[in-house]
Amino acid sequence: MRNFTCVNDIGDLRQAVSEALAIKADRFSMQHLGRNKTLMMVFFNSSLRTRLSTQKAAMNLGMNVIVLDVNQGAWKLETERGVIMDGDKSEHLLEAIPVMGSYCDVIGVRSFARFESKEDDYGEKILQQFIRYSGRPVFSMEAATRHPLQSLADLITIEEHKLTERPKVVMTWAPHPKALPQAVPNSFAEWMCATDYDFVITHPEGYELDPEFTRGARIEYDQDKALQGADFVYAKNWAAYTDPNYGKILSRDRSWTVTAEKMALTNNAFFMHCLPVRRNMIVSDDVIESPRSLVIPEAANREISAQLVLKRILESL
Ligand code: CP
Repeated sequence: MRNFTCVNDIGDLRQAVSEALAIKADRFSMQHLGRNKTLMMVFFNSSLRTRLSTQKAAMNLGMNVIVLDVNQGAWKLETERGVIMDGDKSEHLLEAIPVMGSYCDVIGVRSFARFESKEDDYGEKILQQFIRYSGRPVFSMEAATRHPLQSLADLITIEEHKLTERPKVVMTWAPHPKALPQAVPNSFAEWMCATDYDFVITHPEGYELDPEFTRGARIEYDQDKALQGADFVYAKNWAAYTDPNYGKILSRDRSWTVTAEKMALTNNAFFMHCLPVRRNMIVSDDVIESPRSLVIPEAANREISAQLVLKRILESL
């Protein structure tokens, strides 16, 4: 595997999960793969889990790790061509990317949607420039439209906890005070649609995601109806995708918060969220603290998903 940006890059999902579980059972047995290899993690946005889990995964594989927070301590970067750089940005991404590539063997990039231009966000402008100009394998640590390391960890978590071969998985929109990108829900939908699970998405009208990611999913506007019989409830907020409301908050309706009453509609479902989560906006305290909450094992599996991806990339070098 050269680059990892979406579900198609990982190949057969059963094989990927099986490989991930083998890594989880013995995560230090492949240190020869990363010896004298350097991972550079480039963050244009904040992170807790991605930063720590990916660094830990690289260390498990014997790699050296360099972390760059672009907005803290680095020169401010211009990302557009043709701009007369007479403002506060001292360096252009087109020089910075190959320079970064010269110091490492593999690059991870986190670059969220900016909600300034849907075309730029959905063209994955920053991530694609790293792939094109770094000369190194590149993997997404959450880009504008997808968060594949999270989705792989989510898939591993569901496979570890499912009680039936074909569980009902419901992704529900929930309220949030800020406009959040669609990367996590797009990606989760894309990965769930690539399985044979019974996958349902529920959200208020106006929050339809890009059909490229949801093709194959059932869309249900009545949250209570969607939750009936669910084995897994995956909560997430996202801002509107469809024009003319791209990037806007259309609803703050707290009746969509995942509460114990909502979970009572399900088949004793597990609760999932990628974290960080706003308690009592997305999910009530009692649900996230309940024994059916998988948020901590889900986050722990981020180490495993990152290690699988890094292993596959190192094997291809
Ligand atoms: N879920 C996730 O990616 O967490 P961070 O934003 O903290 O990395």
